Amino acid sequence: SLYPVIMAGGSGTRFWPLSRHFFPKQLLRIGGDDTLIQQTMRRVAGCAPADHVLISTNGSQAELIKGQLSDWKDALQHNFVLEPDGRNTAPAIALAALEVMRRNPEGLMLVVPADHIVTGQRDFDAAVNLAAQLAVGGYLVTFGIKPIRPETGYGYIRPDTKTVLGRRGALKGYPVRQFVEKPDAAKAARYLKAGHFYWNSGMFIWRAATILEEIMHHQPALGRAMERIRKLTDSGAPKQSVDEIYRTIEPVSIDNGVMERSAKAAMVPVRFRWSDVGSWGSLDEVASKDQAGNVITGRVVDIDSSRSIVYADRRVVATIGLNDMVVVDTPDATLVCPKSRAQDVKKVVDVLKRQQ
Ligand code: GDD
Ligand code: MG
Repeated sequence: SLYPVIMAGGSGTRFWPLSRHFFPKQLLRIGGDDTLIQQTMRRVAGCAPADHVLISTNGSQAELIKGQLSDWKDALQHNFVLEPDGRNTAPAIALAALEVMRRNPEGLMLVVPADHIVTGQRDFDAAVNLAAQLAVGGYLVTFGIKPIRPETGYGYIRPDTKTVLGRRGALKGYPVRQFVEKPDAAKAARYLKAGHFYWNSGMFIWRAATILEEIMHHQPALGRAMERIRKLTDSGAPKQSVDEIYRTIEPVSIDNGVMERSAKAAMVPVRFRWSDVGSWGSLDEVASKDQAGNVITGRVVDIDSSRSIVYADRRVVATIGLNDMVVVDTPDATLVCPKSRAQDVKKVVDVLKRQQ
């Protein structure tokens, strides 16, 4: 059976001033009435019983997340897998895999980032079904997105489309020939032009047992640490001793650490609309807009603006005649910039960090 694992331990800065270290993107209300993690929970609760859903995060975010997921309070009561500190996604996924194994040695994991927008539940379910079928066969299954720009913040996947591993209606699954995590700009441009590469959506399906084997194979130090953690947990040792071991682990992402190296990777190209909402500008791809193409959230009075993004947190924000602008107001910081410069909030965050 299927155990969704919601990855919710990262910190985001690209949505400054809304996202902060202790209030990252997944907790924001973006592209709907629900926050991103609430949307994610709703989505995966469509594929599995709610009490199968595991939340992977750390102590500093757990309380805020519990608050936001209070609709599922009973189901999630024992389902938080807590890291003492972030060690990036490979260790976090390994720890969640141990928990799945404890519940069901044959269990499948559906790993999903807490901070993405996906539109089209039907298409999502169909992709998950096909991917689950491949995962039962021992594959590490990724979900491929047709790339539309030479983005350097994503993984790129080249499938072997001559070999069909499985199909479901019009959907097909293929083995992966090449997986390149976050290529440089020149490579990303080449992959986009080549036409046969996909973006890695950052969602995965595999048997918990398969990913633990592949971690042991490609990241033996991490694998051995997980063996020790498993033995400690089985013998009922206090969480403190598990945390001590976890802290010694070298940070590594699942993409660099396993997906780029594994011979078991497979990919299902998906049809649902997807965005990792990487910046204010990317809201355009996913959020619902008014007739003039504005994305408006909160108590905003707008007169004659177009294609702009306006976010009011507590106060009333009034805008007049803006084109292609971003305005984000929060109690202690305000951002105003052209949409085309939205990526540069990173620079603002850097300046603020240096001033601290
Ligand atoms: N529990 C836990 N612990 N979660 C974490 C940690 C950690 O230490 N670090 C990151 N996460 C969570 C983030 O909150 C996010 O939901 C997810 O894991 C992915 O981490 P990111 O840091 O956002 O990865 P990325 O965006 O740079 O790259 C990944 O996603 C891209 C698509 O958005 C990769 O999988 C790329 O290949 C992919 O293209
Ligand atoms: Mg991300």
